[in-house]
Amino acid sequence: MPLLEINGLTQRFGGLQALADFSIDIDEHDLVGLIGPNGAGKTTVFNLVSGFYRPTSGSIRFAGTPTLGLKPHRVTALGMARTFQNIRLWHDLTVLDNIRLAGYCSLGYSFLDAVLRTKRYKDAEQSIRTKSLEILEMMELGEFAQEYPKNLPYGLQRRVELARALATKPKLLLLDEPAAGLNSVDVDDLIRHIRWIYDEFRISIWMIEHQMKVVMSLCQHLMVVDFGRTIAKGTPLEIQSNPVVINAYLGDDVL
Ligand SMILES: Nc1ncnc2c1ncn2[C@@H]1O[C@H](COP(=O)(O)OP(=O)(O)O)[C@@H](O)[C@H]1O
Ligand SMILES: [Mg+2]
Repeated sequence: MPLLEINGLTQRFGGLQALADFSIDIDEHDLVGLIGPNGAGKTTVFNLVSGFYRPTSGSIRFAGTPTLGLKPHRVTALGMARTFQNIRLWHDLTVLDNIRLAGYCSLGYSFLDAVLRTKRYKDAEQSIRTKSLEILEMMELGEFAQEYPKNLPYGLQRRVELARALATKPKLLLLDEPAAGLNSVDVDDLIRHIRWIYDEFRISIWMIEHQMKVVMSLCQHLMVVDFGRTIAKGTPLEIQSNPVVINAYLGDDVL
């Protein structure tokens, strides 16, 4: 059984068909990409899968559970984490607190435990702090634990967002244009970190990405959408030379 199974997903916004009949299976330890011109419907796919939008039609199963109608935090608790095309960090919290808060998503204590500050809660809190610091170290962010994200360079903010997604202990990580706005040194760091996460945690990764360097060096399979429709599937090499894809991108200068 695939980890993520999407069938016939369609999303309309008023008169606009943002996504039409989108289907994909993602297995454990897959690393796949979703590409397509701006406005093609890529982020819409992630918003549907992670519970931010409810589709007009179609079905989604994740880790054996139908997820339609589940709120985003319930989907996260099943083991799916995401990053956003525009960074969404809590800028008034330290880097460490950003990671710690995410860690609570995967925690087994009740609201009552937290209010009463039971021993169980205190133990959990300590363990989250330790694990959060570990994640920061692993992502080469340890020295920034007490900084505020807004004071960090953009590339590091992106990395904090990645670390925060990891803190929820995902089985599947959704990355929405992780390389957007990065310079070429940052892009190389990003590729290294994504590959490391993939190897170390043996999770599945699904990324939306424009930069061919990132996609070519990381993804095993690509899907291409244009105007909400799936126009191609294949290996990065096949996709790069596919005339339908090249045509969709004409004038976009990204391939
Ligand atoms: N919440 C929304 N309400 C109305 N239209 C939306 C909404 N979200 C996305 N769209 C529209 O759906 C289309 C696909 O958007 P999106 O999925 O963000 O594209 P991509 O990520 O591929 O650039 C666009 O035309 C966009 O304007
Ligand atoms: Mg998008």
